[in-house]
Amino acid sequence: MIDFFRRHLVVRIFLSYLVVILVGALVLGLATRFTVPEAFNSHMGLGLGLGTGQGMMQGNGAGRTAVSDLFKSFQASFNEALLLALLAAGVVAILVSLLLSRGVVAPVRILTSASQRIADGHYGERVQVVGSDELGQLAHSFNQMAEKLEQVETMRRQLIGDVSHELRTPLTAIKGSMEGLMDGILPATPETYQQIHQEAGRLASLVDDLQELSRVEAGAYPLDIRPVAVTTLVQTTLKRFAAQVLAKRIELRSDLPADLPPVLADQDRITQVLTNLFGNALQYTPEGGQVTILATRHGNEIQISVVDTGIGIPAEHLPHLFTRFYRVDKSRSRQAGGGSGIGLTIARALVEAHGGHIRAESGGEGKGSTFTFTLKVAG
Ligand SMILES: Nc1ncnc2c1ncn2[C@@H]1O[C@H](COP(=O)(O)OP(=O)(O)O)[C@@H](O)[C@H]1O
Ligand SMILES: [Mg+2]
Repeated sequence: MIDFFRRHLVVRIFLSYLVVILVGALVLGLATRFTVPEAFNSHMGLGLGLGTGQGMMQGNGAGRTAVSDLFKSFQASFNEALLLALLAAGVVAILVSLLLSRGVVAPVRILTSASQRIADGHYGERVQVVGSDELGQLAHSFNQMAEKLEQVETMRRQLIGDVSHELRTPLTAIKGSMEGLMDGILPATPETYQQIHQEAGRLASLVDDLQELSRVEAGAYPLDIRPVAVTTLVQTTLKRFAAQVLAKRIELRSDLPADLPPVLADQDRITQVLTNLFGNALQYTPEGGQVTILATRHGNEIQISVVDTGIGIPAEHLPHLFTRFYRVDKSRSRQAGGGSGIGLTIARALVEAHGGHIRAESGGEGKGSTFTFTLKVAG
């Protein structure tokens, strides 16, 4: 029984109305009992001691009886009216509580069943927003929450799809080569083994990249931010590529103003960013090209750019470069020993973790590319 009251809003609203009505009736009843006789006497200009018996005995007997009868019938009709009013108020209370609870209960029921469906995995579920009261606001934020969940779910599915696709390609190549070797179709030459080894290496670096990406995106490492000289960052990066720069006969330039203040950065992480950008510049610039590293100060920020004279990027690809697994030309970057399209995603996550931003520019195909990121000036 108590459970029934607890679970049905309409009953609770009705009961609260009922309490108000009953208190009102009680007060009225008491009022008629204690104050109305006095008022009746004074308005009739009599001192007949009606009701409470406090009045003085005055006037003749017949008169007294007549007035007392009058008062009795007044009281009876008053009580009748009070009872009628009580009944009418009760009926209105039932109607109003039904109406009110329907206005509250119906949207709550809709929200309950929608959240149930979302819990069952139907992330497309939305509720209709009606009005701008608290319930309307609740419906609105419910929809927002549902949309976020749907986005996360889509991203998760996409990620799994992308990762399996990326893993499948080198795996298929390895498997194919091994089968060729076993069947004697492929010659057991050092080249064949090298090819298999290369694909295995690609798998390994993909897994490394993925691990790094998940760590970076989850912010699962502490940033050791302190003032660092830009030249230190650039030199550490360039050292890693010395052999490659020589082999590809790339002309290397750097333009770092002598009075450049130190930046606030986690040295290892920003070296990683520069490594990704510089590695791309080398990779996508043909032999004999140029790669330049620039740094300029803009107010409280230092902009660091890696500029190359390489193959460039068509304008329509620019907005997507930082999306994971995005490559302008999948087959090309594969042949060119390209990565999996995660390098720039990692770079962006790292730069943003430093409170900076990163962007790509290019004059178009064959016109070279420029990647620029910002860091805060120390002090
Ligand atoms: N300097 C560049 N010149 C031309 N294209 C570039 C350059 N840097 C990046 N790109 C394009 O952006 C894509 C994504 O880069 P990145 O995330 O580093 O992945 P990848 O592993 O392919 O290098 C590359 O596949 C390439 O198409
Ligand atoms: Mg790369």
